[in-house]
Amino acid sequence: MDGNGRWAAASGLPRVAGHRAGATAARRVIEACPKLGIGILTLYAFSSDNWRRPPEEVSALMELLGSYLDSETAGLVENGVRLEVIGRRDRLVPHLVRAIERAEAATARGQRLLLRVAVDYSARDQILRAAAAAARNGGLTREALALHLGPEVDLLIRTGGERRLSDFLLWECAYAELIFSPCMWPDFDGVHLAAAMREFHARERRFGAVPPAARARTNGAAARWLD
Ligand code: FPP
Repeated sequence: MDGNGRWAAASGLPRVAGHRAGATAARRVIEACPKLGIGILTLYAFSSDNWRRPPEEVSALMELLGSYLDSETAGLVENGVRLEVIGRRDRLVPHLVRAIERAEAATARGQRLLLRVAVDYSARDQILRAAAAAARNGGLTREALALHLGPEVDLLIRTGGERRLSDFLLWECAYAELIFSPCMWPDFDGVHLAAAMREFHARERRFGAVPPAARARTNGAAARWLD
């Protein structure tokens, strides 16, 4: 959800106004997901490195997250959305933790979309915790590690013209298709998401293998070479 601060600055507004507009954009995108066949959406709301921001911005973001959860929960339930907040909770203010728990409990039966919101999230920390849990439970294998992490990511969209992963879902993005959009997050909507989905479906995902057409060419050449 990059570009909130620049979007606000461009209109002479404080950064927090950009985050508020970002929350509205999040609602639009969440609503668009089921119509586009998206079953899981993960939003990067606050990274563990975002604690380095000025304290006023951090508290405004925490307040916004809490009020967002409180005001959106009924709509999420109505739209069949299940909310799961990923990341550390031990450094969050207690009333935000309670708001998260309330929203997760209220939306637990949602089946149309799994909405994962990353708060105080660091992929490297998650991988370390997953590795420790896997090792405790009998062995550090890819499968055991994956059990303690999230679902594989098919498509990662980063807005605001940034071209980095910034410690987001590093393990889960091993074979993600990446789309970097110049659009500032508060302007992002279902139309942008639909365009990203078209680009995603037009890509050939090989997962390290050879596509069937190239395999046929390779086999033909190998057969001629062997003749
Ligand atoms: C990145 O833009 C955005 C954030 C760090 C905060 C995103 C949080 C919200 C929109 C709050 C609402 C939460 C949900 C779950 C909808 P930036 O501040 O880095 O902008 P910049 O790149 O222009 O500086």
